[in-house]
Amino acid sequence: MSTDKITRLEQAREESRKGGGEKRIEKQHAKGKMTARERIELLVDPGSFEEIDAFVQHRSTAFGLDKQQFMGDGVVTGFAKIDGRPIYLFSQDFTVLGGSLSETHAEKICKIMDLAMKNGVPVIGLNDSGGARIQEGVSSLGGYAEVFWRNSMASGVIPQISAVMGPCAGGAVYSPALTDFVSMVEGSSYMFVTGPNVVKTVTHEEVSSEDLGGASAHSVKSGVAHFTAKNDAVCLQGIRRLMSYLPLNCEEKAPFAAPAEPDSTKADALDNLIPDNPNKPYDIHDVIDGVMDKDSFYEVHKDYAENIVIGFARLEGRSVGIVANQPLALAGVLDIDASIKGARFVRFCDAFNIPLVVFEDVPGFLPGTDQEWGGIIKHGAKLLYAFCEATVPKMTVITRKAYGGAYDVMNSKHIRADYNIAWPTAEIAVMGTKGAVEIIFRREIAAAADPVAKQAELEAEYSREFAHPYRAAARGFIDDVVKPSETRRKLIRAFEVCQHKVDHVPKKKHDNLPL
Ligand code: HXC
Repeated sequence: MSTDKITRLEQAREESRKGGGEKRIEKQHAKGKMTARERIELLVDPGSFEEIDAFVQHRSTAFGLDKQQFMGDGVVTGFAKIDGRPIYLFSQDFTVLGGSLSETHAEKICKIMDLAMKNGVPVIGLNDSGGARIQEGVSSLGGYAEVFWRNSMASGVIPQISAVMGPCAGGAVYSPALTDFVSMVEGSSYMFVTGPNVVKTVTHEEVSSEDLGGASAHSVKSGVAHFTAKNDAVCLQGIRRLMSYLPLNCEEKAPFAAPAEPDSTKADALDNLIPDNPNKPYDIHDVIDGVMDKDSFYEVHKDYAENIVIGFARLEGRSVGIVANQPLALAGVLDIDASIKGARFVRFCDAFNIPLVVFEDVPGFLPGTDQEWGGIIKHGAKLLYAFCEATVPKMTVITRKAYGGAYDVMNSKHIRADYNIAWPTAEIAVMGTKGAVEIIFRREIAAAADPVAKQAELEAEYSREFAHPYRAAARGFIDDVVKPSETRRKLIRAFEVCQHKVDHVPKKKHDNLPL
């Protein structure tokens, strides 16, 4: 081959690699952001990235675009490996026309999504874009819709992970929102449907981009972001870690890791963890850490709806999804946000063959007009629905309270959980002692010479009768009562026996879960 031809190829590659050029790269760095290619290098195994479509260029001529040609058209796409396992990825290049999405930019993303679907491989999208390429008008909008359609079709087939590492405005937020997990970088990323200027015009509210749609707004208030990271590097490391718990697609199982006994201090503390006073809180993380493989818990949605804790962990090296009520926050009650948070996670785990472990200490659903008018009925039903439809191996450990409807919802035996156990501290009842006594013995208490003493006497009687796990055990509603320190061993054995579980939902076009 002539050296001219090789030179031409090398020049084209070099041009593609430099994106929007040195000045814009400097600007990107000055904002504390990495370039699209630097991010890929950190995300994937060294040397594993194979780029595709590096020479794609847009075909637009309007508004001087014919004079603004950049090889690759603002998005770097291809395939690579994370921990030796394949992924497809795209990484938007803000140095090229602000990473804005043109028709051809969208075509590149769609191509890798189609390949990912065909080959059963996850897609990771690194988003950093000013949104629709304004000069292209409706062609760009069509491009977005093509991506959204693919996100929807891929949902539940391959894991889709989004990092938001710069602006993400307008319809551009809907692609990340359709994916399974969204990670945002603090201080340099934001997501909103309409920005601060539109908000000011329409609602007269003055709000900054950061307050409106920054990482904190979406991880604490809206729940749109599952993870936040203090910089690009931490965000990308987080995605690598997340991938380690996930299978490549819905037909496969998650990879095993080397088993690790839990931290011995945490495991030894389990038998004395639950306070004698049922109204005293404890941290459910101590239960998770005492039972699961050491340092294996990777919390999802850490700062949102803290009354329920969700995340991935490992049990003897096996990837599991944890759903746990958190007595430290709102006494672990189920409210709208907690129900939605839990439901989506349960559905993700079920879609991708990740078994579920529930740690239950729940006093019920949160009462109040806010909750009722906000639709706690339909939102609580989402969590119930998610556990009902899940066919993966499902285990429940009742550590303390399992009251009322929340007892049914939290992966009870009745909705086909495989192995339900309770600690001796469990209280499985329609409601807590005080509330129950006040309702069923209202007249007796009122008629008593000493109503306070009478109530105390009746509460003690009710506790003896109901505030324990043995009535549920007598009915077979729990499979066993176990010492907290026995929990890990019991769960490991239960998962072993359930590992080939086959269960189905009835044939249907699709379900109609309460949205
Ligand atoms: C074309 C764009 C662009 C866009 C930015 N640029 N956004 N080009 N289309 N949407 C270009 C700029 O002209 C500039 O080009 C370069 O990208 C960097 O932009 P700056 O403004 O210099 O950067 P910065 O100050 O960091 O501000 C970034 C920004 C701002 C906040 C994203 O550029 C901005 O507000 N852009 C417009 C955002 C927007 O309204 N997008 C449309 C959303 S509606 P040079 O040549 O100077 O480097 C939408 C609808 C989708 O997306 C609907 C789907 C259903």
